[in-house]
Amino acid sequence: MPLDVILGSQWGDEGKGRITDLLSAKADIVARFSGGDNAGHSVTVGDQLYKLHLVPSGIVHTHTTCMLGSGMVVNPVHLLDEMDYLESEGVDVSPKRLKISSAAHIITPSHIALDKAREAQRGSAGIGTTMRGIGPAYTDKATRSGIRAGSMTNPEEFADLVEKHTQDAANILEKVFQQQAPNPTEVALAYFDIAKRLQPYLADIGALIADALDQGKIVLAEGAQGTLLDLDHGTYPFVTSSYPTTAGALMGLGVGPKHVRRIIGVTKSFQTRVGSGAFPTECEGKIAQHLRGTGEHPWDEFGTTTGRPRRCGWLDGVLLRYAIRINSITELTLTKLDILSGLDPIQICTAYQFEGTSYPDLPSDPTNLAEFSPEYEAMSGWDSDITNAQDWDDLPAEARAYVQRVQQLANTPIRLISIGPERDQVIDNTNQD
Ligand code: IMO
Ligand code: MG
Repeated sequence: MPLDVILGSQWGDEGKGRITDLLSAKADIVARFSGGDNAGHSVTVGDQLYKLHLVPSGIVHTHTTCMLGSGMVVNPVHLLDEMDYLESEGVDVSPKRLKISSAAHIITPSHIALDKAREAQRGSAGIGTTMRGIGPAYTDKATRSGIRAGSMTNPEEFADLVEKHTQDAANILEKVFQQQAPNPTEVALAYFDIAKRLQPYLADIGALIADALDQGKIVLAEGAQGTLLDLDHGTYPFVTSSYPTTAGALMGLGVGPKHVRRIIGVTKSFQTRVGSGAFPTECEGKIAQHLRGTGEHPWDEFGTTTGRPRRCGWLDGVLLRYAIRINSITELTLTKLDILSGLDPIQICTAYQFEGTSYPDLPSDPTNLAEFSPEYEAMSGWDSDITNAQDWDDLPAEARAYVQRVQQLANTPIRLISIGPERDQVIDNTNQD
């Protein structure tokens, strides 16, 4: 015991990576449980910015063991690139420190080609995927035709599976989508070499985590994406193909709920979204520009994975309460409070309006958000730079009032508040609730 879960309460990009890095200081194991390299997690340590897509954010600490759980889909080419990059930065990514679940699924070039072809076919109704092959890989998993990482223990058989899969996909890509398909022999050869390199990293993650928990070690589950992108509980069909929620954490690591201690919902102080789909509190013009930034800083709201400008808007308290309910979130971390400096007033969405009725909570699941208009409460802003605040009392009264109002709306304690990308730019708010 115990298992702590970190997950996104919005549409992803809440700052899960930097919070995982922070809490990894006291963790023994840090494990990703869902998604793949559609995630983009940033960790800043001094002058160094680490951009991670597959390897858990806990890797930057030297004492942790990092794991890729069974709920993930892994592009092995990108994983090896990321491992090489980390190694070149002096980070140890040996099999002692990094482990891949044998039950995780493998992403191939055909999955990426199919992702692109399906998005092109959807035209203006596209989901706006990250084009990483995520949906097609999970499709193969669900239809029981996927390739699991464990197959790499026998590189010849693995290469055969990859060749057959690439051939099958070529039939679809060429006949249905009239697209050029990846060459089965070439892909199989490349994946044969990959299997030889990744073999030593394969493990039974569920068993390792169970052992660690029995020994009293601390396990941190690092979420990717966010609650509103959950395949079942998000804004379907504008979602990802996995389960970035608490239930997904347990399933994607192979552990039961009795070990769970904290469920930490990471919430940005405002709302962002990449890709398509309704966004009730979306802003245009100056407010959106202020929230998004110019793109010159790594923390500006441009995708870590795709570089796309993110859509920005005010914090949505209705959706926050929904995420708290879906996940049983026990505490919140509020990120990027510093970005609100200079905006006055600051709006918070406290309820939705539909045909003259006000709904403080979602009246149905979030698939039909476009029907609702947000009801806002205006709060006074502050002008000063808060990035050097050391504790709660250093924050301007207006910033404290904002945090307290979010906490009240969420009916959940806000334990950490981030005011910049650095490890020490976090206010521990534990005593305020
Ligand atoms: P992190 O972990 C933000 C979004 C995509 C798209 C939808 C489906 O950095 O928070 P997919 O490629 O998964 O099939 O795309 O999901 N999406 C994310 N948005 N942050 C992420 O991850 C995301 N991962 C997927 O933009 O709308
Ligand atoms: Mg992202």
